Amino acid sequence: MAIERTLSIIKPDAVAKNVIGQIYSRFEGAGLKIVAARMTQLSREQAEGFYAAHKERGFFKDLVDFMVSGPVMIQALEGENAVAAHRDLMGATDPKKAEKGTIRADFADSIDANAVHGSDAVDAAKVEIAYFFPEAK
Ligand code: TYD
Repeated sequence: MAIERTLSIIKPDAVAKNVIGQIYSRFEGAGLKIVAARMTQLSREQAEGFYAAHKERGFFKDLVDFMVSGPVMIQALEGENAVAAHRDLMGATDPKKAEKGTIRADFADSIDANAVHGSDAVDAAKVEIAYFFPEAK
């Protein structure tokens, strides 16, 4: 088993629902350690840069509008197979398709307000962690 790091964002909808603690408990319960964390209000430029891979998608503007609509809680998580373990906790992108008991099934309202972000691969995680936590070793 590989010890990995992944980037997690608790999005504005979940922060507004006051469920940061419940989501953190799920990370801890799955053996994921919070190794860096920051609550912040993203600028439009930060959100656009973070989601640059989706720039050409039809939902890009709505996604950026949503990500800057309120504060977010950003963390780097560390643990065994952290990328996949965290994505398992999150559930499918569309909460209607997310398995029962996942964060998105329990806390998300729609595919565009879907509570959490998680890196989809180890390489992406490195870039995303460096984007928000340049000081992380
Ligand atoms: P994506 O990377 O495909 O999903 P995930 O967050 O599960 O890795 O998409 C990034 C975000 O873009 C997704 O969390 C919500 C938003 N999005 C939409 O608003 N509509 C869509 O049809 C898709 C695919 C994504």
